[in-house]
Amino acid sequence: MPSEDHEREPASRHDPGAHRPLIELIDLHKSFGSQRVLEGVNLNFRQGQTTVVLGQSGSGKSVILKHIAGLLRPDSGEIRYDSLRIDHLPERDLTPMRKEMGFLFQLSALFDSMTIAENLEFPLIEHSRLSPEERRERIKDVLAVVDLAGVELKHPAQLSGGQQRRAALARAIIQRPRLMLYDEPTTGLDPIRAAGISDLIMKLKNETGMTGIVVTHDLACMRKVADRVVMLHDGRIIADGTPDELASSEDPHVQHFITGTAEAELDRFRNESLLGPPPSAHRGARA
Ligand SMILES: Nc1ncnc2c1ncn2[C@@H]1O[C@H](COP(=O)(O)OP(=O)(O)O)[C@@H](O)[C@H]1O
Ligand SMILES: [Mg+2]
Repeated sequence: MPSEDHEREPASRHDPGAHRPLIELIDLHKSFGSQRVLEGVNLNFRQGQTTVVLGQSGSGKSVILKHIAGLLRPDSGEIRYDSLRIDHLPERDLTPMRKEMGFLFQLSALFDSMTIAENLEFPLIEHSRLSPEERRERIKDVLAVVDLAGVELKHPAQLSGGQQRRAALARAIIQRPRLMLYDEPTTGLDPIRAAGISDLIMKLKNETGMTGIVVTHDLACMRKVADRVVMLHDGRIIADGTPDELASSEDPHVQHFITGTAEAELDRFRNESLLGPPPSAHRGARA
């Protein structure tokens, strides 16, 4: 596996590996006590693509991401990373693979007591052999990518909710991951800042060729970032296609999800127009 300090060539259509699956989930089953969450999930995530995973709240989307990150183990089935079976590997053997992954989870909080630069430097000190000068350069570059140039010496509380989310994204990509896992990356942000995060997800894919898996309820985000959309329902994948194919699907569960989510978005928009932006627009849930 390439080290995290390796420059990665952007995947292009000339790259024979471009559409090979990077992650394969094969007949994945997972229950918690008597609650069956995954009941035979079969799903490949192709290299260089962004796949959006839709599904009702509680359907098991985060559970899927946690299996990919090696934070949960399946009851049965297989998980492959770059063709290597990983679901039964001991914890220490997961480290090289985790170094190639970046995570933006709902609770990936920045450390309040550290500056932004310190927050970003932390994973580099732990996991890379970069010199202090190289670390400073890397931090500067990554902050520019997320449109936060110059905030190195600020503390998280001095940033808006949207800026904090972008700083968390900067931290997630600072080791130049091959695979980014995004769990509800735009949740809690107002529509304009949410669109900013969606733009960044798209830009990262286009500029670095990184593979992305995005769990979201945000249909605008889905339309913007998805090469492919899948929908999880009753423990299985019930739809798989382009955003347009999904929108025109006749499956009642897919229709219900899309219509219901669109209406909820419209309601939220109406309420915000009447009442002003929600507090999260200023304060924001820390990403
Ligand atoms: N570690 C856990 N222990 C027990 N139940 C869990 C655990 N993780 C998730 N669940 C349950 O699995 C279901 C799916 O959860 P989750 O994947 O978080 O849903 P979502 O699709 O909203 O992300 C939920 O009912 C949740 O309560
Ligand atoms: Mg979730």
